[in-house]
Amino acid sequence: MPEDKSLNPKIQRLRELRAQSCLGGGEERIRAQHERGKLTARERIDLLLDKGTFREIDAFVVHRTYDFDLDKQRILGDSVVTGWGMIEGRLVYVFSQDFTVFGGSLGEVHAEKVCKIMDMAMKNGAPVIGLNDSGGARIQEGVVSLGGYADIFLRNTLASGVIPQISVIMGPCAGGAVYSPALTDFILMVRNSSYMFITGPEVVKAVTHEDVTFEELGGAAVHSEISGVCHLAADSEADALYLVRKLLSYIPQNNMEDPPFVPTTDDPLRMEEALDDIIPDDPQKPYDIREVIRLVVDDGIFFEIQEYFAPNIVIGYARLGGHSVGIVANQPAVLAGVLDIKSSEKAARFVRFCDAFNIPLVTFVDVPGFMPGVSQEHGGIIRSGAKLLYAYCEATVPKLTVVTRKAYGGAYDVMSSKHIRGDVNFAWPSAEIAVMGPEGAVNIIFRKEIAKAEDPEKRREELVREYREKFANPYIAAERGYIDDVIEPHETRPRLINALEMLANKRDTNPPKKHGCIPL
Ligand code: HXC
Repeated sequence: MPEDKSLNPKIQRLRELRAQSCLGGGEERIRAQHERGKLTARERIDLLLDKGTFREIDAFVVHRTYDFDLDKQRILGDSVVTGWGMIEGRLVYVFSQDFTVFGGSLGEVHAEKVCKIMDMAMKNGAPVIGLNDSGGARIQEGVVSLGGYADIFLRNTLASGVIPQISVIMGPCAGGAVYSPALTDFILMVRNSSYMFITGPEVVKAVTHEDVTFEELGGAAVHSEISGVCHLAADSEADALYLVRKLLSYIPQNNMEDPPFVPTTDDPLRMEEALDDIIPDDPQKPYDIREVIRLVVDDGIFFEIQEYFAPNIVIGYARLGGHSVGIVANQPAVLAGVLDIKSSEKAARFVRFCDAFNIPLVTFVDVPGFMPGVSQEHGGIIRSGAKLLYAYCEATVPKLTVVTRKAYGGAYDVMSSKHIRGDVNFAWPSAEIAVMGPEGAVNIIFRKEIAKAEDPEKRREELVREYREKFANPYIAAERGYIDDVIEPHETRPRLINALEMLANKRDTNPPKKHGCIPL
């Protein structure tokens, strides 16, 4: 920085120090970071926040290690940039790990900076966003680094359900370091430049003799399609940061607030005739539930979460009449929308997040039941299905349900049924609500009759038809009040918005307890 002779020397000194701090690990390392196609910690913050709103703190802290060569290098701010700023005019706290300083590794003061930001966020009720790009625990600082991680893990856990916590993985995130993002509400990853794993490819090779690359072991594709660890994968760092902004637009600042209301020009009374023909006549034929969602919600905008993981259930955010809602929907286009281990866990976590943050739930039901099979049973579908059931049972936010087609067996109960405190439960005329599908039911209850028949196949078909007419419809449930109303599909949007507004002051509680024992 050129020296300004007229300036007070103390102010000049401050400016020099600030400029030095802004350079992190120095120009050469910044160049190396750019050459890898990655932005620096500060460039990322600038892209994330509303222009000019970032207020950095702790830019002058330095590490306290007097061993190794660290003794000779004290970089102002250490390996993380922290502070607060605005997203769409709403306060957020941010930490952004600086890979140009000791590989973004976490030592004592790095952890202190992150903890300070988290404590402020908790006190003031605003989200924390962590931009992760780090070589993990700072090796030279030994157990002090491990302690620093544990200090963060504790805060992640205490903040859970109080303020939203979002992690963006923009480089390495390995070993125990993965557990801070893992404790947060949403993990976003950048394709081809970020990875998360407990142990890297070399250790994997030594222990299990498996040969994998970083990307194959813990890249964005793997975590968004197979493990489900990643909620949103982006093609670039800029895209990932844009997705954080978009995600926050549906979420309140903390658990004491309601989500932001976004006025819409989409008519709340809009009838959508296309919905009347969306269910195929053949009950075995699939359709895309996302099409139903788009036709119902404001401006057709559905922000899907975990799109590629367990796609037999669809989750995400949208707005109805300007009100933010969390949508859970069985997806008949994938595995007939069956509930299995992964889809149950995916939806359960989403339901609990929405409930913790006062986001009403809208559930679209078309589910043939739970997935049969040895691998599912041995994998613990009993426990996983119970997670989803538990999540819906304990949720006290407004719960709206629309049964579009099948609601069979235990899955009928689970999917926000009236019995587990569904507030307003609609069914379309195409709904089939019964213990099981007509084919299965007929094979069990008329087995002997079919076997004795002159033409067993013909008799079976007749019985299936009879069963379908008699039981596979919404009216038996509606007779009992298990369904509040059978509605025409085209009126779904106005009916949901009306119900949502009717429930605006809903108050419901669970019995006092330290915490429940969700079957984890
Ligand atoms: C101290 C570290 C470091 C670390 C990297 N650096 N990781 N310094 N502690 N953990 C330094 C390097 O010495 C180097 O310094 C600079 O950061 C950049 O690192 P490079 O290796 O040159 O970069 P790159 O080739 O891109 O490789 C990045 C990397 C690699 C894959 C992250 O650095 C690496 O494998 N680091 C160690 C990862 C690790 O095992 N961490 C511990 C995980 S266990 P110079 O001065 O040369 O630029 C863990 C436990 C947490 O984190 C437990 C919590 C409960």
